Amino acid sequence: MRLYMILLSLLLVPLAKGDERETKELKRAVPCDEALCKLPSCRCSSTAIPGGLAPRNTPQFVLVTFDDSVNVLNMVTYRELLIGRRNSNQCPAGATFYVSHEYSNYQLINELYNNGLEIGLHSITHQTPQTYWAVANKETIEQEFADQRIQMAHLANIPLTSIQGMRMPFLQLAGNASFEVLKDIDMLYDASWPTMSFVEPGMWPYTLNYASIQDCPIPPCPTASIPGPWVLPMIAWRDLLGFPCAMVDGCFAPPDLNDENAWYNFIMQNFERHYLGNRAPFGFYVHEWHVRTNPAIFRALSRFLDVVNNLHDAFMVNSKDVIDWVKSPVSVDEYRNQPCKQNMPTSCIPSQCGPLPASHTQEQFWMQICNVCPRVYPWRGNPFGL
Ligand SMILES: *[C@@H]1O[C@H](CO)[C@@H](O)[C@H](O)[C@H]1NC(C)=O
Ligand SMILES: [Zn+2]
Repeated sequence: MRLYMILLSLLLVPLAKGDERETKELKRAVPCDEALCKLPSCRCSSTAIPGGLAPRNTPQFVLVTFDDSVNVLNMVTYRELLIGRRNSNQCPAGATFYVSHEYSNYQLINELYNNGLEIGLHSITHQTPQTYWAVANKETIEQEFADQRIQMAHLANIPLTSIQGMRMPFLQLAGNASFEVLKDIDMLYDASWPTMSFVEPGMWPYTLNYASIQDCPIPPCPTASIPGPWVLPMIAWRDLLGFPCAMVDGCFAPPDLNDENAWYNFIMQNFERHYLGNRAPFGFYVHEWHVRTNPAIFRALSRFLDVVNNLHDAFMVNSKDVIDWVKSPVSVDEYRNQPCKQNMPTSCIPSQCGPLPASHTQEQFWMQICNVCPRVYPWRGNPFGL
């Protein structure tokens, strides 16, 4: 047990190094130079299709994502809606979970991973107020996300390198800080940044080597030059009155929540703006409870995904797959001929842990994990619960 803790603390040492770098001044990003900024590692923010492909030769990626904790309630929806689904090329359909730690069941996260779905980060504490995130410095972001990455790998027993993306709570960006941390720990992308201005045509993913032209609905947005991580813009939907919404459950004027056909049409209309346009990735970004408590939305979404899975040029994928495609874009025909991606499968030796005292509340916690039980409930500053 003692040896085990020493090994864990060794793992944590590299994180402390971040502090030294914090003092280094970042360079302000300058307007993007297409001649200098080239794939696979640099892309200017733009609505141009990567690789100069024509829309009809461009795969239409569909990103279904769910935020917050994974638990026995929402797992019912995930199994029913996602597991076993295949795209028209017979590869398993993807979806991405931006997971927050509190109340998460790591055995279920292990199951999601083993079904080829993507696990991303959504912070350890997900705490309010929102300003906590707006002013978060590098140290806070390291504790909330860099620590969460090793926590997730440890508690769900999944490979650290399979965790490549993050989404900030409340989509609240923290200026340069979160992107600096992504760069430091070699993660691939952020999926927190909505755009209302680059919807039709939509903004494709890009890097931050140069200044972004994207609108910043929830400031502060990064303005430094930060080569490495990718921005996966959340292209807003338009609701029935034309107002933009980044999350489907955040629309001001959605259809009647009990009207399946109206919802199906609503989803389809937003999809077609992408599919008949520049084919920028189409997102269905939502919280599971919205789909669970509104069966008409569940059915409409399910019908929509069935349609996508029957289109020869549309693909439901993990968010990180889109970034991989943008780095080296290929046509629909070539994409369809690629072999399906394989996840390294991993086991879960289940532990039921608790009651565990917590440092942030009087409440005691039980947790289901795929590793030995911690001493206390893991939290910010103590991601393993040592
Ligand atoms: C990001 O870095 C740039 C360049 O150093 C700086 O001008 C800007 O104020 C920083 N943004 C935030 C929100 O800290
Ligand atoms: Zn959230």
